[in-house]
Amino acid sequence: MSRDAGKIAYRLQELRDKYPNIETLGVEADLANLTTVAEYQALVREKLSHIDIALLVLNAGVMQTGVYLEQNSDADVESTMAVNGLHVAFLAKALIGRLRERVNRSGIIIVSSGLANVVSPGIATYCATKAMVTSFGVGLHYEEHDKVDVLVWEAGPAMTGLGHG
Ligand SMILES: NC(=O)c1ccc[n+]([C@@H]2O[C@H](COP(=O)([O-])OP(=O)(O)OC[C@H]3O[C@@H](n4cnc5c(N)ncnc54)[C@H](OP(=O)(O)O)[C@@H]3O)[C@@H](O)[C@H]2O)c1
Repeated sequence: MSRDAGKIAYRLQELRDKYPNIETLGVEADLANLTTVAEYQALVREKLSHIDIALLVLNAGVMQTGVYLEQNSDADVESTMAVNGLHVAFLAKALIGRLRERVNRSGIIIVSSGLANVVSPGIATYCATKAMVTSFGVGLHYEEHDKVDVLVWEAGPAMTGLGHG
């Protein structure tokens, strides 16, 4: 899942070149524009209803730096909340029933951050969203443990596109 159809096509071709026997599916979606559970349910219904999902990885994230009031635009604040926070809780809500109904165990991996445990000016919104998904994921872990393994990964720093997107 990505906002960029070209990137999806490129990455899926890479996978097929390496593993010719696998089947792939890409879904183009801008998660910054999805702000209700109903919108996620519609996405799942339209794009994912025909596949068996054993492992759900909730990885999408954005990070803007700067003083909240003066340097973060309204759009930046909204997309940080929507992508880092809402997509995790709402896509899980739209899919967890299906994961639970599978015969075999299923899994959810939530990509949080070590910054979930940090209080820092300049990245207040980012830290808040990661604290939220850590807390959410740990709670879900206890609720779902009979059928679904829920793991929260508080990742450390890595040089990626984060912060420049
Ligand atoms: N890099 C670090 O130091 C670090 C540390 C701890 C945790 N993390 C977390 O790791 C996760 C992955 O980040 P990364 O470091 O690999 O950065 P990245 O290369 O910028 O990847 C961010 C991912 O989020 C997706 N995304 C962002 N906005 C989106 C939107 N509006 N709609 C749909 N997808 C969107 C991007 O998809 P497209 O661009 O293809 O749409 C991309 O797959 C994030 O949750 C981040 O918070 C990163």
